[in-house]
Amino acid sequence: MNNLLKGKKGIIFGALNDKSIAWQVALKCHEQGAEFVLTNAPIAMRMGEINNLAAACGNAQIIPCDVTKNDEMENLIDKSMEILGGKLDFILHSVGMSMNIRKGNVYTNLDYKFMHDTLDISAMSFHRLLATCYKKDAINDWGSVVALTYIAAQRIFPDYSEMADAKSLLESISRSFGYQYGKHKKVRINTISQSPTKTTAGSGVKGFGDFFDYAEALSPLGNANAEQCAEYCVAMFSDFTRMVTMQNLFHDGGFSFTGFSPDVFNVGKDAE
Ligand SMILES: NC(=O)c1ccc[n+]([C@@H]2O[C@H](COP(=O)([O-])OP(=O)(O)OC[C@H]3O[C@@H](n4cnc5c(N)ncnc54)[C@H](O)[C@@H]3O)[C@@H](O)[C@H]2O)c1
Repeated sequence: MNNLLKGKKGIIFGALNDKSIAWQVALKCHEQGAEFVLTNAPIAMRMGEINNLAAACGNAQIIPCDVTKNDEMENLIDKSMEILGGKLDFILHSVGMSMNIRKGNVYTNLDYKFMHDTLDISAMSFHRLLATCYKKDAINDWGSVVALTYIAAQRIFPDYSEMADAKSLLESISRSFGYQYGKHKKVRINTISQSPTKTTAGSGVKGFGDFFDYAEALSPLGNANAEQCAEYCVAMFSDFTRMVTMQNLFHDGGFSFTGFSPDVFNVGKDAE
């Protein structure tokens, strides 16, 4: 399938390195004919890896934006419309960070300053993004916005800690704003709940390797990888999914609806 996104303009948040889900989304969107701006926190750009991605995507422009800052978000939306020569058709929010997880603080003993930052970066930023676009009327009718989430919003995965709370809030904002933006402009807003994926953020969660193998064994199709997630994002940005909004869409090889698979007994056996 070619040119699913021809003529569409967008913004892609969160490509840190070539492991990032957003990195794969950018490559696929480019392949499917979209034009877009890349963005990340200024501090995440120090290594300069994003420049390689921009070059691979037809010299896409890069605009720094810390998603916790109103003025930076406003600047991003204004500049993106200037660069792309019009309103946006799609946005990917692929942003998450927990300092409590990074510092190894357990869920029963969180640092609240860190927790505040986690909720701000990983969830409230989605509201900030949507509200900024709404005020500036920055998204075309039938535009599509996707944020990435994880099933810990619905079920307990103890080491995912406060990120579970952040993802619950993120998914709730997607529904609440999905209603408002749907009524106002036919803009659709969804979250994609992705399998464990070997990225910088993913691998930062304690026990990630074991959990990755467990999910791989439980899911009838196995874990979905970043490239497959990117393909799903392209489908959600395309005109073929115009009536889908306010949904949390599981992209997890069937993990979310599988109660048991005997394959989980074999996890880790090779290592014994
Ligand atoms: N990796 C997984 O297992 C997995 C599974 C389900 C969902 N997700 C979600 O996918 C999304 C992308 O994560 P990833 O796994 O590709 O990891 P990643 O580390 O490559 O991406 C996270 C991004 O968030 C950005 N970020 C952090 N603080 C920011 C700030 N203040 N302003 C702007 N950007 C900021 C980082 O710079 C980075 O680019 C996240 O929302 C994550 O929770 C990941």
